[in-house]
Amino acid sequence: MRENGIKEVVKSKYGEAARRVAAGERVGCGTQAGAVPCCDPISSNLYQAGEIAGIPAQAVAASLGCGNPTALAQLNAGETVLDLGSGGGIDVLLSAKRVGPMGKAYGLDMTDDMLALARENQRKAGVLNAEFLKGEIENIPLPENSVDVVISNCVINLSADKSRVLREAFRVLRPGGRFAVSDVVVRGPVPADIRRNVELWVGCVAGALEETEYRSKLESAGFEQIEVEPTRIYSVEDARQFLTTKGIDVDAIARQVEGKFASAFIRARKPLEALINTDQH
Ligand SMILES: C[S@@+](CC[C@H](N)C(=O)[O-])C[C@H]1O[C@@H](n2cnc3c(N)ncnc32)[C@H](O)[C@@H]1O
Repeated sequence: MRENGIKEVVKSKYGEAARRVAAGERVGCGTQAGAVPCCDPISSNLYQAGEIAGIPAQAVAASLGCGNPTALAQLNAGETVLDLGSGGGIDVLLSAKRVGPMGKAYGLDMTDDMLALARENQRKAGVLNAEFLKGEIENIPLPENSVDVVISNCVINLSADKSRVLREAFRVLRPGGRFAVSDVVVRGPVPADIRRNVELWVGCVAGALEETEYRSKLESAGFEQIEVEPTRIYSVEDARQFLTTKGIDVDAIARQVEGKFASAFIRARKPLEALINTDQH
């Protein structure tokens, strides 16, 4: 699928998810029809009860991430945070709390219904130091060297041009700034057809990166101190129902899938001495 085709599929899928949440439903991360959101092994139980106290129920119901980047990232009072693909806004609202009134949290999303939901959640939460921007993570509408921390929760895997997203994250970060992202990664070789089907189960329309590819793309973008730490490793049983509906003999491929797909927390840093040549972008 070409890049624009992928974007249209992603917009339509997440636009529908936003409208369902606005109508009072809960949604889950995977694409499988009829999935039970409470039991979705990817998006469920990512946030502690104490953490989401004061966050509007619809921001929690719209949570479609695969990790909890705000909990794992170091965020300091007064800092500027940018959330790539902010969805219903849960991580932006949590970040805004953490950076306090002298700091700012931006959310960036390309889907109108998600932006409307996030702004409504911000209004309900009474959070003043957050702002939701419309735009694409491949073309971040912020100036270079303007952000202290880039977070993201299960979005970079949806992009058809992941290298560009990482270069854009690098551009907007200040020297010394942190990249602190939850995403799905593949761990080691998996046959292409099986990989594609498991990726569809996870909801990675454009494909997840293999762990070492993630590292090398971050390095090429200019990042240093790169760490990839699995936070949830998926079992073949998690995907059994979905793969069976695709006509796959799950028992036959179990060894090739078991433990190969994970949600991971990915950290990196923009070197203090980094200078951006904006002509390259
Ligand atoms: C899996 S949801 C995650 C939402 C949120 N981070 C969370 O944890 O609930 C993906 C979100 O990213 C947005 N998105 C996907 N690809 C994007 C892109 N290329 N540019 C901007 N937003 C994008 C979608 O509109 C959707 O709201």
